[in-house]
Amino acid sequence: MCGIVGVLGSHEAAPILVEALKRLEYRGYDSAGIATVNDGALARRRAVGKLVNLSDLLVHDPLRGKSGIGHTRWATHGAPSVKNAHPHKAGPVAVVHNGIVENYRELRAELADHGVGFVTDTDTETVALLTEQYMNEGLSPVEAAFKTIDQLQGAFALAFLFDGQDDLIVAARKGSPLAIGHGDGEMYVGSDAIALAPLTDRITYLEEGDRAVLTRTTLEIRTEAGELANREIRQIQLDRTRVDKGNHKHYMAKEIAEQPIVVAEAIRSYLPTGGDQVVLPGDDLDFAKLDRLTMVACGTAFYACLTAKYWFEQLAKMPVEVDIASEFRYREPPISDRTLALFVSQSGETADTLAALRYCEGKADKIVSVVNVPESSIARESDLALPIHAGVEIGVASTKAFTCQLSVLLMLALKAAADRGTLTDEELADHAAALRGLPTVLNAALDQNESIRQSAQRLSEARDVLFLGRGLMYPLAMEGALKLKEISYIHAEGYASGELKHGPIALIDKHMPVVVMAPRDAVFDKTVSNMQEVMARKGKVILVSDDDGIADAEDGVWSTIRMPHVHTSLAPILYSVPAQLLAYHTAVAKGTDVDQPRNLAKSVTVE
Ligand code: F6R
Repeated sequence: MCGIVGVLGSHEAAPILVEALKRLEYRGYDSAGIATVNDGALARRRAVGKLVNLSDLLVHDPLRGKSGIGHTRWATHGAPSVKNAHPHKAGPVAVVHNGIVENYRELRAELADHGVGFVTDTDTETVALLTEQYMNEGLSPVEAAFKTIDQLQGAFALAFLFDGQDDLIVAARKGSPLAIGHGDGEMYVGSDAIALAPLTDRITYLEEGDRAVLTRTTLEIRTEAGELANREIRQIQLDRTRVDKGNHKHYMAKEIAEQPIVVAEAIRSYLPTGGDQVVLPGDDLDFAKLDRLTMVACGTAFYACLTAKYWFEQLAKMPVEVDIASEFRYREPPISDRTLALFVSQSGETADTLAALRYCEGKADKIVSVVNVPESSIARESDLALPIHAGVEIGVASTKAFTCQLSVLLMLALKAAADRGTLTDEELADHAAALRGLPTVLNAALDQNESIRQSAQRLSEARDVLFLGRGLMYPLAMEGALKLKEISYIHAEGYASGELKHGPIALIDKHMPVVVMAPRDAVFDKTVSNMQEVMARKGKVILVSDDDGIADAEDGVWSTIRMPHVHTSLAPILYSVPAQLLAYHTAVAKGTDVDQPRNLAKSVTVE
């Protein structure tokens, strides 16, 4: 995580750096800082906590200069504090870093042997100190930075700024993404192109191991081996405006409310009007030629994959494995050349998912990704990238990206079913019609906001909450629990309802709310039996179901949340709305920071 920026400009750098950092704050908000060169002198300002604290500091203690670097931090080594905040400075050099220098202990020990002292608890300080040491030995700033980079193991995106050098930034990437922006007599560097969107749409992406020397008018890129590299300048399309909250109190509320629109857009892009066939870009993906699907992701995206497993198995009769990326990447799973490897990621930058993708390169038949950011590393490294069209998601807790991921994955499963001949034309048409009706039922689910808020009021008093679901609702139970814990800080677990009696039922007493996700489907009666077992032990049930389900099973429950009827396959997408709103209203009732919950970052670019 962490976001880095740099600018060699023709205007004051500080406001430009702060604006760019705002667009990177989703990567972490433990501290922020900038450094500039003014009249040849390198100086910095740093503040703990969110970017607004740095902005306040700069009002009282401004920093002049037209070249600079900046950083927003998600703490890995060393607590959030001013001394640990980037940029780290050692003599004539300041450094910002995204990633982890894994050999920093060895490097520290070597520096200590040379009598060098340390003032921070970070791994990054070693980068600044090593560069200073090499400069003291007589190397130029660029030589010293390159020699330092050669010593580093781990993952990094780095930008270096030097005392006395108003027209020089050195940048490097390995494992963490880095984009260079080309302006008119200006040059920029950023963790992603979104950070640079107000400045330029002409972007060069550094590749693994690349190091770059930037001036206002030149960009020289060298590979890890030191050879000159020619990297293309891409004209990219990005939303230049910073998305606002509209009439909503939080980005998360806005993003939940946007779901009918963005899901409609996702559906329109893969299910063209007038047909029942799912059409993919560059359509040469034939599921009939594949034996197996391996899906890999993290967090909410992982729960989207778990849901999709049911769809691929039931609709396309296709064997599916789903894995958490951080486990998959080190387990050395065998991948046959008749396997489709599918990676799901909102940001497209999640370090473990990207590493899992790279593991599958040269093994799987094809690498496909389902992403929200089409310019992301995961999208760029896939054979086929399928955008989910959710639009910029700012709330750290993923909402609209989840329902868009689910919609795209369901359409992919329908494409697999069509290729493999496992659904009839009528069944495919039935699913297509249901998908086109999804935005309408999502709106009806959003209309239940007030009743969900009332149930959430009750949840906000709880210490622990269980979510139960069966079949397609089981992954959603886990997603509902994840949403609740990450933004309300209430401990929550999602369980397959049939698994309850194998242990977790011991937790049930009159203090334990249990949210039961149960549309009136083929497994409804079984889920209701498990719900009865909870109520027999005084557990307090919030039943989320449709009219028929509530009519059949509402006796004795604590409260109900009523959903519209929907095609069975689409229920996990629809029932995401109450899961998200329950978490949202509980967090609001508890007064937590809904959009930027503690300890989290939206883009997880470290392992
Ligand atoms: C939870 C959440 C995370 C992400 C996970 C993967 O609300 O947002 O669990 O889903 O960090 O991120 P991406 O999808 O960007 O790979």
